[in-house]
Amino acid sequence: MRALIIAIDGPSGAGKGTVSRVLAAELHYRHIDSGAMYRAVAWKVLADGLALDDEPAIARLAAEARLDIGDGAIRIDGHDVTRAIRTPEIDRAAAAVARLPRVRAVLVERQRQLGADGGIVMEGRDIGTVVFPRADVKIYLDASPDERARRRAHDPAHAGGGPLAVAEVATALEARDRADQTRAASPLMAAADAVPIDTTSMRVEDVVREVLEIVQRQLEADGGREE
Ligand code: C5P
Repeated sequence: MRALIIAIDGPSGAGKGTVSRVLAAELHYRHIDSGAMYRAVAWKVLADGLALDDEPAIARLAAEARLDIGDGAIRIDGHDVTRAIRTPEIDRAAAAVARLPRVRAVLVERQRQLGADGGIVMEGRDIGTVVFPRADVKIYLDASPDERARRRAHDPAHAGGGPLAVAEVATALEARDRADQTRAASPLMAAADAVPIDTTSMRVEDVVREVLEIVQRQLEADGGREE
């Protein structure tokens, strides 16, 4: 059976992380969180004391850094940044770094290499539009701004020490959505051929089931073409 490339895009708090992880486990595919790559690069930019708009230096850093984006720990140049990249400061720094076209070009190329053999669920903002425009399955997850803020505020990976105030998260989320949607380089948008799913009032298992059905249909269509 062919190993597919599955692209899951959408804004923060839409459910990409949870859905992609479960989906990859069900299919025995690799799961790649492309946002973690932008976050890890942003972490190193701050750690190295670079300016967030120093495009040539950040592009070089992104090209040369050793990145381990496995399902467990996330490492950059040997530093385990799994927890350190889920802070409001890195939320902002990652969105700033992601505006820089030369940095995007470097990370997009690295993402394409990671998915070259298929058998991958990659989540992000531009996976179906830019990274893998010919992905076998493209899903665009979204949810209402209130629900996305509520999820983010209760996500232990993002809440650090304790629960964050939903109103504060909502304001930061709105600013980041705006930055992601209005940047000149690869703004967040659904690919024309992506299947949109509004997860506002859906349970994770129902979203996963719906996506698995779409994947299944793709595999069956493949089966008809192959021997
Ligand atoms: O998904 P996550 O919130 O971890 O992504 C962090 C930031 O990285 C986003 O705000 C976005 O600016 C950027 N990003 C991107 N393209 C991707 C994934 C993330 O621009 N494919």
